[in-house]
Amino acid sequence: MVVDSIPHIIESALERKLPTKTDYGIAFVGCGGIVNYGHIPSYKANGFNLIGGYDINHEAAEKTIQTHSLKKLYTSLDELLSDPMVQIVDIAVVPEEQRNVVTKVIAAKKPLLCQKPFSINYAHAAEMTSLAEQAGIKMAVHQQFRWSSIIQATRAIMNQGWLGDILDVQVQVSIHTPWDMWPWIASQPRLEVLFHSIHYLDSLRYLFGDPVLVTSRHTKNPAQKAKGESKTITTWDYSNGMQILIAICHFDWSPALYSLFRVLGTDGVIEGTIGTNYDYPDGRSDTLKFTSREHSEQNFSTTLPGKWIPDAFYGPMASLMEAIQTDSEPLTSAKDNLGTLRVVEAAYRSMSEARSVSPSEIIV
Ligand SMILES: NC(=O)c1ccc[n+]([C@@H]2O[C@H](COP(=O)([O-])OP(=O)(O)OC[C@H]3O[C@@H](n4cnc5c(N)ncnc54)[C@H](O)[C@@H]3O)[C@@H](O)[C@H]2O)c1
Repeated sequence: MVVDSIPHIIESALERKLPTKTDYGIAFVGCGGIVNYGHIPSYKANGFNLIGGYDINHEAAEKTIQTHSLKKLYTSLDELLSDPMVQIVDIAVVPEEQRNVVTKVIAAKKPLLCQKPFSINYAHAAEMTSLAEQAGIKMAVHQQFRWSSIIQATRAIMNQGWLGDILDVQVQVSIHTPWDMWPWIASQPRLEVLFHSIHYLDSLRYLFGDPVLVTSRHTKNPAQKAKGESKTITTWDYSNGMQILIAICHFDWSPALYSLFRVLGTDGVIEGTIGTNYDYPDGRSDTLKFTSREHSEQNFSTTLPGKWIPDAFYGPMASLMEAIQTDSEPLTSAKDNLGTLRVVEAAYRSMSEARSVSPSEIIV
């Protein structure tokens, strides 16, 4: 039964819900772009206890420590791991390096948060997940888009029954992505789904669950320097007939860029924008327009507070802290992330084999 008004639902959905204890000592492994403009600003805004960092590029670590007035500059991973002040390890290295770091952090028995993609190899992701489980260590993945305003507001409106049964979902993004922000990405054979759409895929699983079939087609701009695909169209089919479309283009030169999110239900529709995409990583705030089929007095349009980057970044860390103190599963646990990697891998298999693929086909 519908009981709460849309503005009130949105307001309470966007209230920060932090765990009781948030003063775990956090240290960074990898002190590159995203740690500086995503992790640290968001963690600081939420009062988290930042200790220091390590990077194979000493200058990157030094600059990060100085810029954000952190306490400790580590000169090796071993030094960081043997520091008792470090209670959570936050990894943001290039994906090929993540498994080596994860293995050492688990051996040191410290809880850890990995960056997305958790792994570019599904078997390695499954292996890391088992390793952490066997060691009894909490491990999560930084799929922070789930904590963006548009996703949290949509989930709350949907859970309160205002949308009815979901019929159709669309993520349509046509933007100009500055791939040169990530020099290591140019050589990746798999680009768009694995590094960008993975955010949508993860949040769509969070909102609507896993699809039964994934169908995906990929292409690129002939003039691009990067090796991997930069335009993809993916559809998800559910057993009840619901479909999701994720259509993403990264080489739109025009001034008419768009970044749209739409959920059509039997009783209401949400039309939103994902603001960060308009000018990454600065971007804009998300917007949301709700239209009710029967209750026009509830029709509501707003600019949501905050921005995906950096404001959503506190989420996976807060969830990991909650899991540590209540001995529960983080929302974006490694185990849950295997589901996200299965839909990623299903998209690539769909493309290479020109057929629809069930995520259940993706096994080690
Ligand atoms: N929204 C998001 O969640 C988001 C956004 C951007 C990047 N990322 C992810 O974050 C990770 C880092 O991306 P970035 O943009 O910060 O890249 P970056 O190149 O700016 O930084 C990576 C840093 O890791 C360091 N590094 C590499 N191997 C290391 C190792 N073994 N030990 C310690 N340091 C090491 C490098 O020297 C570099 O400073 C990537 O996996 C990327 O996919 C996530």
